[in-house]
Amino acid sequence: MAIKTIGVLTSGGDAPGMNAAIRAVVRTAIHNGINVKGIMRGYAGLLQEEIVDMDSTSVSEIIHRGGTILYTARCQEFTTAEGQKKGAEICRKHGIDGVVVIGGDGSFQGAGKLSALGINTIGIPGTIDLDIACTDYTIGFDTAVNTAMEAIDKVRDTSTSHERCSIIEVMGRNAGYIALWCGFANGAEDVLLPERYDGNEQVLIDRIIENRKRGKKHHIIINAEGIGHSTSMAKRIEAATGIETRATILGYMQRGGAPTCKDRVYASIMGAKAVELLLAGHSNRLVAYKNGEYVDFDIQEALAMTKDIPEDQFRISKLLVR
Ligand code: ADP
Ligand code: F6P
Repeated sequence: MAIKTIGVLTSGGDAPGMNAAIRAVVRTAIHNGINVKGIMRGYAGLLQEEIVDMDSTSVSEIIHRGGTILYTARCQEFTTAEGQKKGAEICRKHGIDGVVVIGGDGSFQGAGKLSALGINTIGIPGTIDLDIACTDYTIGFDTAVNTAMEAIDKVRDTSTSHERCSIIEVMGRNAGYIALWCGFANGAEDVLLPERYDGNEQVLIDRIIENRKRGKKHHIIINAEGIGHSTSMAKRIEAATGIETRATILGYMQRGGAPTCKDRVYASIMGAKAVELLLAGHSNRLVAYKNGEYVDFDIQEALAMTKDIPEDQFRISKLLVR
């Protein structure tokens, strides 16, 4: 059956570039003579029937804006079989034959369930965490690391002036990609990744003392959210080294702001590809960027994949710091 109407929703944590993806979905659909409905607030809005018609002008003036014009939410009800059945029925009631889901792994689980219930679904990876295994790129990561990098540069200035040690906590849920990239980009003395950190604070303390003896004016430790406890870590390090140590938790600033060029471009291409997959009759697929190409994967196969911090990159990040 030919697709006549598609829905688009954003779900889970927002990410800069989601608006560019929504714009691409809407404009590609319209270009192909397909109607588009915006489903507000992710699966929560679907179950509440918060569904609006979209046209080309609905997505004007948004490509440069952070956040998501469709809003986002987490929805417990949709994790239940009854919730998913209700969601599929609501799609049918509104004539929605296919849904583009922009989000992370949890959102894709939901997309897989909708697909099994007869609603064609395509996922687009949108998360600052870069933690989706099937893809080398997730929308929002580039903006988030640039925001974090600039903030860390600023903390570094004041750390140097006061000759302090600084622990700066970056987001990433259980993944250390934002931390690793900031480690490189900010020339941090230490980077603590959930995938690698063994909890040995004595090694950190010894390095801080050694660096101070060599005349270093600051010591920047980038700590990933998945390790956390930056404030108590700072207190223990100050007590052990005698060097003033402060913790800064960057928090939600990393999720906002105008998307970088890279996020806008990847989001635009992924949004268009998602609609093209629906038009070609595909369902239960994720758009991904792998080894320099835009590709797509079966949702369950993609969710079963794992990825890890590249060991070589971690090794190099450490050897560059003196
Ligand atoms: P993300 O998509 O960023 O990983 P979450 O894990 O919070 O974010 O998932 C977003 C939403 O996706 C959840 O609030 C829920 O509505 C839906 N979801 C998550 N897991 C499942 C599941 N196993 N089955 C159906 N829906 C799910
Ligand atoms: O997935 C994006 C993210 O910002 C993670 O880095 C973080 O762990 C989480 O979302 C925070 O979620 P919430 O908005 O529920 O606090």
